[in-house]
Amino acid sequence: MVKTIQDNEHAVQVRPTKVQQRVELANVRRFHQDVLPGYRKTDLTKIALTSQDLGQVRHRFKGTVYVKDESDRYGLPAFKVLGAAYASFVAICEAWQLDPHTATVQELRRHARSIDPTPLLVAATDGNHGRAVAFFSNLVGLGARIYIPSGVSSIAERAISAEGPDVDVIRLQEDYDECVRQAAAFAAADDPTQGQQRLLIQDTAWQGYTHIPQLIVDGYQTIFREVDEELASRSQQEATHVFCPVGVGSLADATVQHYTAARDEATSLPTCMATSIIAVEPAGSACLAESLAEARLTSIQTRNTIMAGLNCGTPSYTAWPNLQAGIQVVVTIEDEHALNAVQRLHTSGIAAGPCGGAPLAALQTLFSNPFEAERLALLDDERVVVVLLMTEGAKSS
Ligand SMILES: Cc1ncc(COP(=O)(O)O)c(C=O)c1O
Repeated sequence: MVKTIQDNEHAVQVRPTKVQQRVELANVRRFHQDVLPGYRKTDLTKIALTSQDLGQVRHRFKGTVYVKDESDRYGLPAFKVLGAAYASFVAICEAWQLDPHTATVQELRRHARSIDPTPLLVAATDGNHGRAVAFFSNLVGLGARIYIPSGVSSIAERAISAEGPDVDVIRLQEDYDECVRQAAAFAAADDPTQGQQRLLIQDTAWQGYTHIPQLIVDGYQTIFREVDEELASRSQQEATHVFCPVGVGSLADATVQHYTAARDEATSLPTCMATSIIAVEPAGSACLAESLAEARLTSIQTRNTIMAGLNCGTPSYTAWPNLQAGIQVVVTIEDEHALNAVQRLHTSGIAAGPCGGAPLAALQTLFSNPFEAERLALLDDERVVVVLLMTEGAKSS
């Protein structure tokens, strides 16, 4: 049983100038609330920790734990649609010279009908992102071509296909990173005979491909706006510890950007309690932990995990500097820990999928190591407010 807690020596609690913030928050909000049909705030559920969760620190943890439950976003079982749909919307507007600040889904649908051959959205995915791209392509009347690696379940594959009649799923006998390369190559080669337009909607960046991944990160900001609003409505101060599952690190990038911006403004927290962001990775695909250890963006060979959405070998190029500046520690967990946490969340009425269980597994890991829990200021303080980003529901894998 291997559990690892890895420090990020480069993390500085307050280093706003090192973190790039570029979010058009107002447009993200307009898109999620007024443009994409079916907006509903997801739940922020307070859970009571058991003595099993707390282990040796059961008399020392005085804080509150909330679970941000992303098991139903616009009818999809993961948070990913927030970024995938927003980035697809802006990218389509830009390609068709429409104004993303005023355009509507109906306008996009009308436009799509007038273009022959029908344009394609292209993406590689471990499951959730590709499903979200397929969902949006269907909503606006486009086709989608989604690449999946060998480790993605056939249930997830069918769920992507079922998003629309013009969704093609291409399964490769390769890993996620290779799927990203092939999706990018396919999208770059606009169909020469028919002149078909192909838009790559990828949730990870590399040198020369940064705009769309950054729009995706912007789209994730809705999660944190909701968390802040919900905590405020319960007269709670903002989160002191946020646990974030990491695949390529785009969600973690959004987390770092949000809490760094909050620190820039007048925050209710004393500086000593600035929000700590704790990353969680599967032990067999811990590309962020490896990159932090090497102090440079590093690719690794990954092995399969039930946390399929986190099975990525390379951190996103644009996320990396922010993660290096803003992530406090990385906790790596094995599948059995994620599974236990999933079962544990079910007892609190939260239907988590494996990636969704990862943050609780990481919190339990820290509690089983009182020295680490103390060092991260999780103990002996009633002001501690932990937010676990429960990023997917049970249905998605
Ligand atoms: C359910 C779930 N949680 C977390 C993540 C991690 O997000 P990121 O790849 O931006 O680190 C993913 C990525 O696909 C996911 O599907």
